[in-house]
Amino acid sequence: MTDTVDEGSQPYDTDASNQEKLDALEERIEILDTQNEEMRDKLLDANAENNKFQQKLERLNHENKKLKQSPLFVATVQEITDDGSVIIKQHGNNQEALTQVTDETRTSLEPGSRVAVNNSLSVVTDLSNETDVRARVMEVEESPGVEYTDIGGLTEQMNEVRETVEMPLENPEMFVDVGIDPPSGILLHGPPGTGKTMLAKAVANQTDATFIKMAGSELVHKFIGEGAKLVRDLFEVAREHEPAVIFIDEIDAIASKRTDSKTSGDAEVQRTMMQLLSEMDGFEERGEIRIIAATNRFDMLDRAILRPGRFDRLIEVPKPDAEGREKIFEIHTRGMNLADDVTFEELANEISGASGAQIKAICTEAGMFAIREDRTEVRMTDFHEAWAKIDADEDTSEDEVSKTFA
Ligand SMILES: Nc1ncnc2c1ncn2[C@@H]1O[C@H](COP(=O)(O)OP(=O)(O)OP(=O)(O)O)[C@@H](O)[C@H]1O
Ligand SMILES: [Mg+2]
Repeated sequence: MTDTVDEGSQPYDTDASNQEKLDALEERIEILDTQNEEMRDKLLDANAENNKFQQKLERLNHENKKLKQSPLFVATVQEITDDGSVIIKQHGNNQEALTQVTDETRTSLEPGSRVAVNNSLSVVTDLSNETDVRARVMEVEESPGVEYTDIGGLTEQMNEVRETVEMPLENPEMFVDVGIDPPSGILLHGPPGTGKTMLAKAVANQTDATFIKMAGSELVHKFIGEGAKLVRDLFEVAREHEPAVIFIDEIDAIASKRTDSKTSGDAEVQRTMMQLLSEMDGFEERGEIRIIAATNRFDMLDRAILRPGRFDRLIEVPKPDAEGREKIFEIHTRGMNLADDVTFEELANEISGASGAQIKAICTEAGMFAIREDRTEVRMTDFHEAWAKIDADEDTSEDEVSKTFA
């Protein structure tokens, strides 16, 4: 009976509740759909993140491997043989080895290239670019505008410099014929402003060899071993660019007598000098490398650097004599508008004791006196006044020096 009662109301009820259920389900599906969407977004994000980490892991792994790898050695390519193998010479022990390289690497190599080799002496990378950076710092690219004709007096010194530096590079066979080793090093010494640096610059201008310049003070470094490394680099760059001339100006900065003070700075300078000495001693095997050094503190130099075999020639560059002073006046007034009363001979006699640098200063100063008086012509009196001024300036500065030392 209940069935019949139920039967009457059920279809309606079922319809209604079904509809409700359906609505609820639809709603539920909608919620699930959006949730699903969100989850998918999240999954994508996570995937992307995962990718990133994966990449980072790879990078770290790579770095780790690199760090664990044994160090590479530096070598120079001597020769590339016809069958494509390469003869290299290791730096440090100078041992030569025959090794194979990939075709790709070989095309970028030439005799003289610097390369990195691994334990089994395979060429790993071409380092030539790195050397270039080092070389560029020291190498004199554009020749300094000094010519031999710009130097007054010093004929003997000039000849001697040319003989030691230019001749062996230009006519090496002459030395072979006679059977002597060409001199490898010269030291220019003399008072300040006498043309030492100028001489070296003239050589640089004249020679076809690579000219490498370094001031002694540039080799003095705060950090331990830094100066010695620079000296090594200096000679290394020269070896790579043979024939080469190395010019160390103001060498006293690293080659002064050992003082009693035991400061660490001193020790560092000592180490730098030691490196220089050892590089100079190994000179004969170095081939076509000449060395020029200059100093105005000859008395201060450590005797070790003067020992035979290091500098073959000690060339004194003195203050100019009367004739030299005359020439220097001529040189530095070449472009000046001079009055008829100016005679170099007379001037040269009046300023005994002046250096080349002082004579140049006199010329400039004389020109200034003329400008002050609104003249375009420089007269003898201008030169006299200029010398009086420069001489006086020099005296006071010397006084100041003695005062500071008192
Ligand atoms: N013999 C010379 N002939 C022509 N000019 C000279 C001569 N000597 C010096 N001078 C002039 O003096 C300047 C300085 O000379 P230089 O730098 O060569 O002197 P230095 O001997 O190297 O001195 P320092 O010992 O102080 O380094 C030159 O640029 C040049 O103008
Ligand atoms: Mg100088």
